[in-house]
Amino acid sequence: MLHVLQHPLAAHIMTHLRDRRTPPAAFRRLAHQLGILLAIEATRDLATKAETVETPLEACTGRALARPLVIVPILRAGLGMTEPFLDLFPDVSVGYVGLERNHQTAVARSYYCKLPPLDDTRVLVLDPMLATGGSAVQALTVVKEAGAKELSFVCIVAAPQGIAAVQAGHPDVPIFTAAHDRDLNDKKYILPGLGDFGDRLYGT
Ligand code: PRP
Ligand code: URA
Repeated sequence: MLHVLQHPLAAHIMTHLRDRRTPPAAFRRLAHQLGILLAIEATRDLATKAETVETPLEACTGRALARPLVIVPILRAGLGMTEPFLDLFPDVSVGYVGLERNHQTAVARSYYCKLPPLDDTRVLVLDPMLATGGSAVQALTVVKEAGAKELSFVCIVAAPQGIAAVQAGHPDVPIFTAAHDRDLNDKKYILPGLGDFGDRLYGT
């Protein structure tokens, strides 16, 4: 249930995202590029249905996406992964869950939630950093309570503690990540990680 992106371009982008010298404009561009690769990886198993079209020469039966797709970025850093998904899947509905970690306790507090109808949809919850897993577990719970049955969690960097928390709390939810990192520090930041994703994305 853990999928780690294996692609030379993904590895190249990760290295530059991690680099403390990368400024916000370049950071946003790199996050967008990695988001595209992750979006392709996390949607490999989407259901399709037969659809017949007329080419200029004859009828042709191809495949088309069968079910509505919903993305739910966790504010604020998840916004950095939203555009690449919208680029590839322009018809998705977008829900938002706002969570913010307390700097002392690292426990996430919910401050916003707005979700579209989730019946019979496939839902991708997006958050670049899976650290303790507290935010991811909370967001997945909220989205399930709103009716989602088939979910995936997509992130850029995952710590072992966060992976274990999601697997314990939501064993049915596959995790897609571009990097499987080593540990957390005593402030619950990912090691080696890339620092505070939201701060680096928005220059705060
Ligand atoms: C970051 C990140 C995740 C969370 C991960 O958000 O975007 O949501 O921390 O940590 P966890 O796995 O220990 O819960 P943050 O609270 O810094 O808010 P921001 O996105 O607004 O910067
Ligand atoms: N949130 C971040 O942005 N970075 C971390 O390393 C952990 C949580």
